[in-house]
Amino acid sequence: MTRLVGIYGAGGCGRGIMPLARMMPELSAARLVWIDDGATETAINGHDVLSFDVFCAAAAAHKSAAIALADPALRERVTQRVSDAGIAIQAISAADVIIMDDVEIGEGALISPRVTFTSNIRVGRCFHANLHSIVEHDARIGDFVTFAPGVRCNGHVTIGDRAYIGAGALIRQGLSIGADAVVGMGAVVTKDVPAGATVVGNPARPLVRG
Ligand SMILES: CC(C)(COP(=O)(O)OP(=O)(O)OC[C@H]1O[C@@H](n2cnc3c(N)ncnc32)[C@H](O)[C@@H]1OP(=O)(O)O)[C@@H](O)C(=O)NCCC(=O)NCCS
Repeated sequence: MTRLVGIYGAGGCGRGIMPLARMMPELSAARLVWIDDGATETAINGHDVLSFDVFCAAAAAHKSAAIALADPALRERVTQRVSDAGIAIQAISAADVIIMDDVEIGEGALISPRVTFTSNIRVGRCFHANLHSIVEHDARIGDFVTFAPGVRCNGHVTIGDRAYIGAGALIRQGLSIGADAVVGMGAVVTKDVPAGATVVGNPARPLVRG
């Protein structure tokens, strides 16, 4: 029986993660599949698509799943569902990630190419750091946080659980981003962001919908 590894979610996020899984030496003998209840295809990019129920029923010596869903709250719910089914949460990392001194990253992280962590950093569970993101010294990042591509998170920044930081956002050193906050793409964050708030622009301000 083989080792079976599911990439949960065959959307844009997952399709950026599957190639990284394929390149990980420790997964070279594993069968890599998609887990996706919504996909109509039977195979995507050379990998079979299984429903979650079929994945759970499949025979394998060891099963794990990487939760490749960019939406933080959805990723948290699906992680719970997968854990409740007794399936291990799989971390996936690009080979070229730079990690300096004293960096602790919780289980199930998805770390894309060209991501840099400098030193003395703590990151919670199931972090998703997309392409070219930077996490600077002494950052404290909660659980299920998503960094879209090109986020620049400076030193001593604190980010609460399930926060979503949009593409190219820039966060000034020492600030706090609250739990469930959303930082829009391209935002330049110069002040603390309250929990649950959405901020956009330079300097970032609360989003006012027209
Ligand atoms: C901030 C964000 C979450 C808002 O999404 P939304 O709630 O659907 O908001 P809307 O698209 O309806 O936009 C509402 C208003 O905010 C403006 N706006 C949206 N995002 C903005 C941004 N990042 N910066 C500046 N203004 C923005 C819109 O132009 C619109 O202005 P208007 O009311 O004057 O027309 C979203 O636009 C965003 O930036 N998401 C991150 C995208 C990203 O990083 N993707 C990476 C994928 S890998």
